[in-house]
Amino acid sequence: MHNVPDRSTIVAALQLAARAPSVHNTQPWHWDFDGTRLHLSSDAERQLTVADPSGRQEVISCGAMLQHARIAFAAQRHPITVHYAPEESRHDLLAVAEFDTPRPPSDRERALAAAIRERRSDRLPMSPPDRPELIDQLREVAADPRVQLDTIADDVRPRLAAASRHTAAMHQYDTPYQTELRWWTGNFDLAEGIPPAALATAREAALVDVGRDFPVPPGTPHRAEAPDHAALVVLSTAANSEPDWLATGEALSTTLLSATAAGLATCPLTHITEIPAALRTIATLLPEPSRIPQAVIRLGSAPHDYVAPPTPRRGTDDFLTFTDR
Ligand SMILES: Cc1cc2nc3c(=O)[nH]c(=O)nc-3n(C[C@H](O)[C@H](O)[C@H](O)COP(=O)(O)O)c2cc1C
Repeated sequence: MHNVPDRSTIVAALQLAARAPSVHNTQPWHWDFDGTRLHLSSDAERQLTVADPSGRQEVISCGAMLQHARIAFAAQRHPITVHYAPEESRHDLLAVAEFDTPRPPSDRERALAAAIRERRSDRLPMSPPDRPELIDQLREVAADPRVQLDTIADDVRPRLAAASRHTAAMHQYDTPYQTELRWWTGNFDLAEGIPPAALATAREAALVDVGRDFPVPPGTPHRAEAPDHAALVVLSTAANSEPDWLATGEALSTTLLSATAAGLATCPLTHITEIPAALRTIATLLPEPSRIPQAVIRLGSAPHDYVAPPTPRRGTDDFLTFTDR
């Protein structure tokens, strides 16, 4: 019991961890503290039933939250150990976290915790990463036996861009998809969803060859001088089960936070994984085409003169319960 932090530490760490990225900022997670351990489950009411009928992106989002929580607790001197899928009978329960012996955070944990506040999904055109070796370093830091990070070579990038356009065309006349997308985008004052300030204007979006088509907000472009030259990497798994999705989310979190700490702008993308034909196209671009692409990430340099405001988050009252009361 002496390893267990007080409630205010748990609340503070999970509020920071909730800065994790999630598909359409649905924040589809729930934490429960039983007095000793923290239980992470997915919140089925927040699943995108049209874009994500299997719940794959919902679980990836929970995986990102889980890894953000590891960092946030470590930064508070309370590292955690995670046990995966502890109860086979409970499909929504993804992981249980136990508190280890308190210790000061490492320099890396401090840097990644600081990156949690700085990270944004940047949908504007980017310049190439200023130091190309950063991408190789990310491959190493994201190293996880379950998830592989591969770079899309420049010569095959047009094929990924074509798959992105194909996906957009398929989605364009899909009324349920568009209705769901509009529900989660364009609101100014909710604690969830993607606000207009986080979206690209028409001129900016036209310069990004691999990106999800979002409703276009009004306003003046901030970065519309040159086409997007972000590096593109793919996270893939050997199988396509819930543990693979959770692991993808953890690797996504590590990659995004490490890239942010190294000064890169980032944007996760999954639209191309929602249409089977486009998914197959990405697989053919990987060194091992039998792998299952789970997410694409744009990584690049961006001028620091404009940084989009952070997207909103729900408070812990909405996603954390205490059953020890
Ligand atoms: C599983 C997953 C899928 C996502 N897919 C996309 C996508 O296709 N296009 C996009 O622009 N952003 C995508 N995002 C980013 C989310 O929209 C973003 O994390 C969320 O709106 C919160 O904003 P923030 O990342 O700036 O904090 C995705 C994020 C996750 C975790």
